[in-house]
Amino acid sequence: MIGIFDSGIGGLTVVRALTDRLPGRDIIYFGDTARTPYGNKSPETIIRYALEDTEFLLNKGAKLIVMACNTASSVATEHIIEKFHVPVFEVITPAVLLSIETSGKHRIGVIGTRATINSGVYEKKIMSMKPEAKVWSVPCPLLVPLVEEGWLEKPETAMIVKKYLLPLKVRQIDTLILGCTHYPILKKTIQRKIGMQVNIIDSSLSVAEKVKTFLTQHPETDELLSKAGTSEFFVSDVTGQFRKTAKILLGKNISLTHVK
Ligand code: DGL
Repeated sequence: MIGIFDSGIGGLTVVRALTDRLPGRDIIYFGDTARTPYGNKSPETIIRYALEDTEFLLNKGAKLIVMACNTASSVATEHIIEKFHVPVFEVITPAVLLSIETSGKHRIGVIGTRATINSGVYEKKIMSMKPEAKVWSVPCPLLVPLVEEGWLEKPETAMIVKKYLLPLKVRQIDTLILGCTHYPILKKTIQRKIGMQVNIIDSSLSVAEKVKTFLTQHPETDELLSKAGTSEFFVSDVTGQFRKTAKILLGKNISLTHVK
């Protein structure tokens, strides 16, 4: 099984990208809805949550972990790799690589939660791979609650997105990294507000590509993954809104199991 976790619903964008690219692999998902959002918590707390989330998925039989959360990826990756001896994928590096490959002017904007932006992880990685790049980052703490609330098409959401993106727009970025797995759900609004000429990098797609490449290169790991085509969804708090947004994202009704 492929184990995937996020603080809430955002990681479902990674589930969709993975199931499109690796059909048939069994998936187990954990959304930590009782403790979402992670993005305004301290690194210590996020690390503790991420370790617990991973342990839960491994106990359920996951053989490979995808941290479908930029916030956890930005502060907890090394801790998870050190503690658990399974392949672990974080969402940041694949998005950085793709942004460098595809950006013409290397004027790159990053949006994410406060914890992700404060960690400086995107700037550090981009600058280490492309020192001449210019990077501007903006925390967008209101976007995760808006997505969790299902406020996807509301004019208020569009206004908030516009306000957050303004400092990036004036810098004339040519590439925008969606540094939070909740944000692809608002991609249309984000694209409209930043401008159609800006290339948007969706970290959920780039990590799914990375997992696919890894499994092609490591058939021994792929053999460990069960392939009945099942997906199980666990959450730490059951909310109707999660089901609704999940249906929009995955195109089907899912059943949720509550974990205490
Ligand atoms: N989806 C998350 C991320 O990619 C977490 C958002 C949050 O819980 O604040 O950062």
